[in-house]
Amino acid sequence: MGLLSAPAAAEAGKKADEPSKAYCARYKCIALTFDDGPWPYTPELLDTLNKHKAKATFFLLGRKVASRPELTQRIVQEGHEVGNHTWDHPDLTKLSDDEVMQEMSSTSDVIEQTIGERPAMMRPPNGATDARVTRLMTELALPQILWTGSTLDWQARDTKVITARTLKLAKRNGVILLHDIVPQTVKAMPTVLSTLEKEGYHFVTVTTLLQGRELEAGEIYPPRPKKK
Ligand code: NI
Repeated sequence: MGLLSAPAAAEAGKKADEPSKAYCARYKCIALTFDDGPWPYTPELLDTLNKHKAKATFFLLGRKVASRPELTQRIVQEGHEVGNHTWDHPDLTKLSDDEVMQEMSSTSDVIEQTIGERPAMMRPPNGATDARVTRLMTELALPQILWTGSTLDWQARDTKVITARTLKLAKRNGVILLHDIVPQTVKAMPTVLSTLEKEGYHFVTVTTLLQGRELEAGEIYPPRPKKK
């Protein structure tokens, strides 16, 4: 690398002193998200993430948090983020308002009892949302986090296929949908993480990915393409 001209050097120095600049504006980030746990395969996934200093986001089911509180605590203690994925994984668009609110509040309650904090985001099961669910999530002040790429790992159930699909879906600032209840997904992660690491990716939580871009209550991220 050549020497920097004086103004360029000053500029570089200035940038180094700017901690306020969003992490993912400086680095090539990707958010891996794991749904439907915590589950008995989750500890192996956490070990893999730790090995790579990777952070991820887990969209948890309330009933599984209730039966695995210590595993839920481990997820958070190791620097990962958790979101509300309902109590029992129903299609929210098919429930009454009261039933939706029950699914959401029971899950936020058990997460708060377990880790001391209520989740700040949710993911609707199967990505199923509509204007009414969006209004209810707005009341709950929860943004709805979807994905830029779905691996369909729960259908594939094949480590090589899941590895290849995840690598293909990877892109800067991508949000990738995976499941830690699929054992082949957990087995795919060592190769996925080493490969993406070599491509310069930093593995971050959804909140880190969105730093500098405040989501509104009920907002759907990433925004869906407008229907024609
Ligand atoms: Ni799910």
